[in-house]
Amino acid sequence: MKDKIKQLLDEISVFTTESKEELDQFRIKYLSKKGLIPSLFGDFKNVEPELRKEIGQALNDLKNKAQDKLSSLTEILDSNIQESSGDLDLSLPVNFEELGTRHPLSIVRNKIIEIFARLGYNVSEGPEIEDDFHNFTALNFPADHPARDMQDTFFIEKNPDIALRTHTSSVQVRVMQSQKPPIRTISPGRVFRNEAISARAHCIFHQVEGLYINKNVSFADLKQTLLYFAREFFGEHTQIRLRPSYFPFTEPSAEMDISCNICGGKGCNICKHSGWVEILGCGMVDPNVLENCGIDSKEYTGFAFGMGIERIAMLKYQINDIRLFFENDKRFLKQFVSSI
Ligand code: DAH
Repeated sequence: MKDKIKQLLDEISVFTTESKEELDQFRIKYLSKKGLIPSLFGDFKNVEPELRKEIGQALNDLKNKAQDKLSSLTEILDSNIQESSGDLDLSLPVNFEELGTRHPLSIVRNKIIEIFARLGYNVSEGPEIEDDFHNFTALNFPADHPARDMQDTFFIEKNPDIALRTHTSSVQVRVMQSQKPPIRTISPGRVFRNEAISARAHCIFHQVEGLYINKNVSFADLKQTLLYFAREFFGEHTQIRLRPSYFPFTEPSAEMDISCNICGGKGCNICKHSGWVEILGCGMVDPNVLENCGIDSKEYTGFAFGMGIERIAMLKYQINDIRLFFENDKRFLKQFVSSI
């Protein structure tokens, strides 16, 4: 027994390693439950009584030496690992996590908000689930108007009074009901139409509604405001043209075209060789609408306009399929760089 202890003591005292694996083998060989030292402790019961004191001490000594060796080598190896990380070349390029990008519809919406903010317009929002009054009646839709038809509108649980809003014009009603003129506001938001999905149309899309109500607001103010917007958004050489149109809530009503930003008006596929592309509807707020919303139409006049964000984005970025906006394909989304 004495010889065995002496032999192990020698082995342990000369042992050294630079490898964690070897150190672990050392631990297993000498100190683990079935290791050499515990098994010597197991044999201790066979030692003659007169030798027990001496051998007991030698055994304890052996065990302590083995444990000291294990902890001192562990410490050295751990500190080596830390030191070697000091060899890292901090000037090496880092693998950056891929950052997200803004969705093109958000970029366009933010840009529109920013341009109108410069003219003093604030932003208002309304609910996506609307009642008939805010979506249609207050906006002067006749009772039998085709837009109220089931084909265009998603109704909620067969209740003909509650529907997903078909346009953000509903927000102008809410603003006029709750605020006193002068009112200058734009309302971006999601709208819903019961339509078949195709490259040109979707049942969910986004609009921005604009509203200005004050004393003596004229059609000339509307035209100048929209010209400013078109040039800020599409470029300083952009021309606009207004064509007579019809909306129940404006009188007179117009649709606005801009000179095609792709071909500069010379004619291309996008503008169907006309040189012009339609971007929005607009007009002077019908006096009936003002009255429906509690605004005195003898004292105040105003204009309104509404545009589809997808349409503006498709023209701006030359995107030919509206469905791309809703597929969230990263290869599509990461092409758009936003400054706001
Ligand atoms: N609400 C109309 C639509 O969804 C767009 C529109 C046209 C809004 C003329 C207006 C406007 O405010 O004056 O098609």
